[in-house]
Amino acid sequence: MKPVKVAVCGLGTVGGGVFNVLQRNASEIARRAGRPIVVEQVATRNLNPSCDTSSVYVCQDVLEVTENPEIDVVVELIGGYEAAFELVMRAIKSGKHVVTANKALIAVHGNEIFQAAREAGVVVAFEAAVAGGIPIIKSIREGLTANKINWVAGIINGTGNFILTNMQQAGRSFDDVLAEAQALGYAEADPTFDVEGIDAAHKLAILSAIAFGVPLSFDKVYTEGISRIDIEDIRHAEELGYNIKHLGITRRTENGLELRVHPTLIPKDRLLANVHGVKNAVMVHGDAVGPTLYYGAGAGAEPTASAVIADLVDVARAMGSDQESRVPYLAFAEQADDLPVL
Ligand code: HSE
Repeated sequence: MKPVKVAVCGLGTVGGGVFNVLQRNASEIARRAGRPIVVEQVATRNLNPSCDTSSVYVCQDVLEVTENPEIDVVVELIGGYEAAFELVMRAIKSGKHVVTANKALIAVHGNEIFQAAREAGVVVAFEAAVAGGIPIIKSIREGLTANKINWVAGIINGTGNFILTNMQQAGRSFDDVLAEAQALGYAEADPTFDVEGIDAAHKLAILSAIAFGVPLSFDKVYTEGISRIDIEDIRHAEELGYNIKHLGITRRTENGLELRVHPTLIPKDRLLANVHGVKNAVMVHGDAVGPTLYYGAGAGAEPTASAVIADLVDVARAMGSDQESRVPYLAFAEQADDLPVL
């Protein structure tokens, strides 16, 4: 079958992971997608030493990919709001499908992006935007589709959990562990997004939209980070039988939908209290299924690449079929069940 031709925009931690996993697992991915998925173009200012791009056309200007008629799917991995927004909107208007890992972009501009995608009849997929390698969006949207969701709660920032774990288990300082998370490529370009809860709030807004069918409501999330937690707090919590974890919580109340991210005391014998390092874990409670738990790597090159490529395979399967114009990722507004967001 005709290959799906992809432009990878941004060849940093995640872009490099996507590039390498697509090459390494090319035959498995082609079998599952029903056609090869080929990187036709890479747009990056800096080459990634872990990627052999010698046989790929590399350009510096990301917008160039939107003018390349060969490209079927634009993979946006440049991060941030403005340049990424312009790239995604241009790609949509050029009739290209989009796969992105950019939670800030989806949380803040998603309503507008999905409207444009709906009009253009293209897919915008964003599994990698929440909880790294854990397929949480697919799990809620597909696996739990029979349920009325009651609540979602979880550890959804890997950097923050890496910091809290290392402070607790190794007695290391906040700044020292944050520097390591940055070196490992876990942290956001602006790490205040991780430590002040903003990244978790972006992800919670997306989870709420998927789980409850409400519009993206990042501005309504009560947001508190971990930057004021010190080792003394962690020690006192331990003495009382608790671990401190940073949670994102969204739940139905009598008055509407509550959205909040903040540090929480969790009894040590609970599952979420024992999620350590860069791992994420998300609990979803559905009226039929009861509580469910999803666990895995919340950040990092190849875990995030795993989710990006899952979206690429979905797009490849849909292309050329009557599914293509269904735009399966835009269900939010249509699903809304009159739940006010508090
Ligand atoms: N900075 C994010 C985190 C990356 O640490 O969770 C993955 O979204």
